[in-house]
Amino acid sequence: QANEKESMYLVSEFAQKYFHHTLLETDEGKAIGLSYFKERGFTSDTIKKFGLGYSPETWDAFTKEALGKGYKLEYLEKTGLSIFKEDKQFDRFKGRVMFPIQSMSGRVLGFGGRILTSDKKAAKYLNSPESDIYHKSKVLYGIFHAKQAIAKLNNCYLVEGYTDVIQMHQAGIENVVASSGTALTSDQIRLINRLTPNITVLFDGDAAGLRASIRGIDLILEAGMNVKVCTFPDGDDPDSFARKTSYEDLLQYFEDNAKDFIQFKASLLMQEAKNDPIKKADLIRDMVISISKIPDRIKREVYIKECSRIMDISEDVLFNTLAQLVKKDL
Ligand code: CTP
Ligand code: MN
Ligand code: MN
Ligand code: MN
Ligand code: MN
Repeated sequence: QANEKESMYLVSEFAQKYFHHTLLETDEGKAIGLSYFKERGFTSDTIKKFGLGYSPETWDAFTKEALGKGYKLEYLEKTGLSIFKEDKQFDRFKGRVMFPIQSMSGRVLGFGGRILTSDKKAAKYLNSPESDIYHKSKVLYGIFHAKQAIAKLNNCYLVEGYTDVIQMHQAGIENVVASSGTALTSDQIRLINRLTPNITVLFDGDAAGLRASIRGIDLILEAGMNVKVCTFPDGDDPDSFARKTSYEDLLQYFEDNAKDFIQFKASLLMQEAKNDPIKKADLIRDMVISISKIPDRIKREVYIKECSRIMDISEDVLFNTLAQLVKKDL
């Protein structure tokens, strides 16, 4: 079993090197993959740091090369890098630019592959399947390159996507990881908690990003961690925003716009409910539910008081609601 996993790690490492080499050293890779990354504003240093790559258009170019080098069909299949059907073999990621996903210690666990055409039928990103070495709910994209900065700065920025992590790094902000498409999980949060108790959520400035931020908040609070949320103008994500903003202005933007979760939820109310009392009541209940997730009793009290002040509702009512919720949990 240990040997099986090691074989899967080794073939993944080989694949990363192959895709990276193809990107930088072949005509097809340079013309298609490299020019794509350059157009997105990625520098050569960034491409090297993140080990980005390109998987050729040919049906089985990678698979053939790997088999020729002695990597076993079994592990190519188990990592999902290759697909074997009857007597045919296919590369899973053919014609995509490649983002290797690394563990906390830097081993390659799997890949995200982005399509280059705007073919609406195909998924924009294709990811490695779940395997003995790749459990997407337990992995954070970028953690290997971010871990030192997270610990040192005692804060972690949490973004949605591969390119968000990369563009933020290039802008000079290194304490950043991505949940990469899966809804945030408690395992991912625990991984961050090993480095810092403080998370700033930076999700996309669209409806999906907003929904994901709201879901993430309670999970982070439940882990006993501190969460802030910083939103972006509609249509922007950290990648697009970081690309047009200097390092100083980015930090300033986060400082000015990161709200604690009570303020974040209150500002949602201002936008959505305005003066609708029913919506206001729902949102206040929702805030108290979030507060009830916090394990520390003192922190719960502090937030109840803040909620009372911001929403202009008596502390007594809030404490009663909280007491009911906390009791239900026991
Ligand atoms: N994602 C995925 N599969 C998809 C779409 C998205 O796995 N079909 C994941 C990817 O990790 C992606 C993240 O969700 O990075 C965020 O999605 P989205 O905001 O749509 O993509 P971006 O990262 O902004 O990608 P790009 O800028 O290349 O369009
Ligand atoms: Mn999005
Ligand atoms: Mn995005
Ligand atoms: Mn960009
Ligand atoms: Mn994007």
